[in-house]
Amino acid sequence: MSEFKVRDNWMAFCLPDISEAEVQAVSDTIRSGWWAKGPRTIEFEKQFAEYVGAKYCVGLNSCTAALHLSLVAQGIGPGDEVITTPLTFAASANTILHVGATPVFADIDPDTGLIDPVEIEKKITNKTRAIVPVHYSGLAADLDAIGALCDQHNLFLSEDAAHAVETRYKGELVGHHPRGAVSYSFYATKNLACGEGGALVTDDPELAAKARVLSTHGMSAGSWNRYGKGGSWRYDIEEPGYKYNMFDIQASLAGVQLSRMSDMQRRRFQVVEVYEEAFKDVPQLRLQKTPEYCHHSRHLYILRIVAERLTISRDQFIEELKARNVGVSVHFIALHTMSAYTKRFGYTPEDFPKAYDFSESEISLPLYSSLSVEDAKYVAEAVLDICKKFGK
Ligand SMILES: Cc1ncc(COP(=O)(O)O)c(C=O)c1O
Repeated sequence: MSEFKVRDNWMAFCLPDISEAEVQAVSDTIRSGWWAKGPRTIEFEKQFAEYVGAKYCVGLNSCTAALHLSLVAQGIGPGDEVITTPLTFAASANTILHVGATPVFADIDPDTGLIDPVEIEKKITNKTRAIVPVHYSGLAADLDAIGALCDQHNLFLSEDAAHAVETRYKGELVGHHPRGAVSYSFYATKNLACGEGGALVTDDPELAAKARVLSTHGMSAGSWNRYGKGGSWRYDIEEPGYKYNMFDIQASLAGVQLSRMSDMQRRRFQVVEVYEEAFKDVPQLRLQKTPEYCHHSRHLYILRIVAERLTISRDQFIEELKARNVGVSVHFIALHTMSAYTKRFGYTPEDFPKAYDFSESEISLPLYSSLSVEDAKYVAEAVLDICKKFGK
């Protein structure tokens, strides 16, 4: 085997995929004179609802806003418990705290990183009001099993689909048959990106209407309705809502990204193919499994190192990748180990041992549609070089 040669320039962990169409769409919106929430947001909401096959889509400024509004709209609050996974970004559980409810963690399946329905069932009490499964990394949580628990215990299902644009559950996009609410993120690193942005998708007309009003301070009419010809300056504040709405500059970017989705996904899969082929028989590495029911959106490429087969730790492995000019990340530092949660709930890492182990051995490799196959091969070679050098 030839000696590994370190490249000269840094490879970013993630970069947006920008074509001329995004630049043009944003310029058109800027020149149109209407930058706030207006016709482009309304159009994007329609397109996104059609794309996932849901009845309603409320465009928002983040997935965090969508997760929060889903709970607020259900009247979930103090005294209630909401079950979610500890292997997630803060937003999934912080929003439960924001409504005054208690987040209750259920451990994961170590093969996938997904919340385990068996663990969820153990955590259901007479205070439980909702379940927030995360479609971790782009895999779908086991929606039939979790849906059955919701039916049995009369619980609201709020899916965290931040990673799940293009994720399919039993052949259908995850937002296709929303039983409760499905929250998406269009943050800069996501498969469909517009810098910051999100959407709440549902088939429930009341939930959609409530979320829409709450997303603009609880105003009975948005500015587009008020300032348009024939609009009225008069409005009511129906409830003290939030400033969570999407706006037209975001929506014009998101709309173009949605139209480019199949091409962007094709290129993500090319990168994944390179990684899967390179890592398949390496004893120092453990690959993420995809459940049979699921089509992976490939938002993140999840690699786990096998500590017993290496003379270096996971953190050192990351340093070795950085020394080879490869930017990587970790998804996620288990949430129950974060000080906001240890202080409040007194958790120790071992309270959710599978999530903790996963989080301590995981490395997310660069995976984005603007990453070339050549760069993916470089990343794979860098990983293999480290395994060879420090393997035992
Ligand atoms: C699992 C998960 N849920 C929610 C969010 C929040 O998304 P946003 O940044 O759009 O609020 C993220 C963000 O990365 C996430 O990874």
